[in-house]
Amino acid sequence: MKSITILYASMTGNTEEIAEIIESYIEKQGIEVKRYQIGFDGFEIDQLFDTDGVLIGTYTDGDGDLPFEAEDIYDAIEQVDLKGIPFGLFGSCDSMYTFYGGAIDSFETLVKERGANVVVPTLKIELYPEIEDIKTCETFAQAFIENSTK
Ligand SMILES: Cc1cc2nc3c(=O)[nH]c(=O)nc-3n(C[C@H](O)[C@H](O)[C@H](O)COP(=O)(O)O)c2cc1C
Repeated sequence: MKSITILYASMTGNTEEIAEIIESYIEKQGIEVKRYQIGFDGFEIDQLFDTDGVLIGTYTDGDGDLPFEAEDIYDAIEQVDLKGIPFGLFGSCDSMYTFYGGAIDSFETLVKERGANVVVPTLKIELYPEIEDIKTCETFAQAFIENSTK
């Protein structure tokens, strides 16, 4: 693998922190990371195809809903064929809510429907990633790299 794209939505920084832990781990393995914050960094749907694997991270809003800023990219993904592209999903969630990480599940369902190859179990971190969560994030990143190149 030469490059991995991380696309994430974060309002209060928790998912961003997870994205940064994952990015840092992947870069240490000698793989280039292109990281985009949804709604802030310009990201065109075609950029999903100029990379060897894609990680999408998101927080959850409302009642298990997508963040508002992630709706456009969600709609754009509905229009493309992701056949064979390795994907992984992650994000920060809050167990006070009924639909724990509902937006992550929505993205997982969507990319599978579009033919993506989801190669790792979804990573859901409770709120801010604490010290003990760092290893979990790194294990997720490592599994993504290994399973994407199989
Ligand atoms: C109005 C509102 C609704 C939320 N709804 C959910 C939800 O349905 N499920 C969930 O797991 N978390 C929910 N959350 C919690 C956020 O996903 C959580 O705070 C997360 O850590 C935010 O991530 P961020 O710092 O990357 O923005 C909600 C938060 C807010 C403010």
